[in-house]
Amino acid sequence: MQYLINQSVLNTNKSDCLVVALFEKGRMSPSAEAVDTQIGGIIRRMLNQGDIDGKVGSTLILHEIDGLASKRLLLVGCGKQDETTERQFDTLISATIKALNTSGADDAISALAEINVNNRSLAWKIRQIVATTDNTFYRYTQTKSSKDSAPAITSLSLLVDSAANKTELDIAAKQGQAIANGMSLARNLGDLPGNICTPTYLANKAVELGKKHEKINTTILDEADMAELGMHSLLSVSRGSREPAKFIIMNYQGAGNNDKPVVFVGKGLTFDAGGISLKPAPGMDEMKYDMCGSASVFGTLSACAELDLPINVIGVVPSSENLPDGDANKPGDVVTSMAGKTIEILNTDAEGRLILCDALTYSERFEPAAIIDIATLTGAIIVALGHQTTGLMANNQAIADEILAASTDSNDKAWQLPIWDEYQPQLDSNFADMGNIGGKGAGSITAACFLSRFTENMNWAHLDIAGTAWKSGGKDKGATGRPVPLLVQFLLNRI
Ligand code: BES
Ligand code: MN
Ligand code: ZN
Repeated sequence: MQYLINQSVLNTNKSDCLVVALFEKGRMSPSAEAVDTQIGGIIRRMLNQGDIDGKVGSTLILHEIDGLASKRLLLVGCGKQDETTERQFDTLISATIKALNTSGADDAISALAEINVNNRSLAWKIRQIVATTDNTFYRYTQTKSSKDSAPAITSLSLLVDSAANKTELDIAAKQGQAIANGMSLARNLGDLPGNICTPTYLANKAVELGKKHEKINTTILDEADMAELGMHSLLSVSRGSREPAKFIIMNYQGAGNNDKPVVFVGKGLTFDAGGISLKPAPGMDEMKYDMCGSASVFGTLSACAELDLPINVIGVVPSSENLPDGDANKPGDVVTSMAGKTIEILNTDAEGRLILCDALTYSERFEPAAIIDIATLTGAIIVALGHQTTGLMANNQAIADEILAASTDSNDKAWQLPIWDEYQPQLDSNFADMGNIGGKGAGSITAACFLSRFTENMNWAHLDIAGTAWKSGGKDKGATGRPVPLLVQFLLNRI
């Protein structure tokens, strides 16, 4: 799919379809107004007749219009004029591409970037149009016999004012494309079944990424290396599995050696059955998605490389399965983490924090400017925030604010929960430095409190994506690619 910035005069280029915006109360965008005059008031008549009402995401296609250079005209409802929100913009962009893809058009020219979206810049609108449009083209095919993809347009031309800064908009379009590509990579890794996407598979993907991009260097540690480093908490989870654990380090060097890196640590549980604290059967297949944190790290690093961002970013992925076995962790077992702190494993299903704590300790060596872990960590975050919002917790407010800003900018929503000291005693254990669960109440917070004990020396934030990384059940079941947009935006805002 090709995206072009087009600064020509409206209705002078031939295309398969021209797209213009309408609003509620019969209002037209400037482009709709101009086209309407050229084609003898057809749009006005459609509005008056009630063929389209301007509601967000409503669409109407008109064919073979005299006076129109394009073969079709697509009218798109954008809500109340000057009141379109970022979320509504997303909705109407998705509706637009859906209408285009079923219209028979091969290419299109869209004037939708002219509408006011909460006073966002033109570059923002271009980036968002490209990212959202391109993300609709994702299809999972790898384990299906029929691989034919749905018909789709191949070129989208974005009409903008002739006075606009073309270079800036070309970059915005590239950013949108890189975000969508990163999401697609993350979605594909997430959607792959656990018998294919194993820790070894993820490690091979990381090596592949390192080969593809000159600025990414990949290192894989095996279980012997991890034992040497003292990662006994991580290794204890892997002991119950026949697939060897892998510890993946992807180093993207886009800036000088002295620039402290941003480190992303992604939970890479390629299947979480719960271990001896076995999960109930219904929906357990969805625990193949327990590596979506790591998938978002892959997606974000690949976006960095694609955009050649002038920043250093390191992706760290501890990867394992969590299965019941004669050699698996048992409730009550005590393990020693790489940091030297002992952990009483009261529930073997709270395994994410057991692998993450060693990955966080390991990451101290990079002296990160900021370290963010991304994990499908707790079911409790779904109770708190549903499937709309990622949970954010941090050991200082500056980094939390930075992530919240990136979340608003990318429309990839996150909301902060506290990790005050008041919660720490819930992790007390009579037999180790801490337990791995915090008991009743505030499950997502106590999980983050556990991690906070391994990040005291770093500028750290934690994203709990258990509710947002994939959609359950039904026809929409599948990985979402979140929070790749948030993470890429976080980096873009730092440049
Ligand atoms: N991977 C799960 C979290 C999860 C659960 C994500 C449901 C998405 C949907 C994690 O390893 C887990 O099992 N967490 C436990 C923690 C509990 C034992 C303290 C949970 O949330 O139930
Ligand atoms: Mn678990
Ligand atoms: Zn898990």
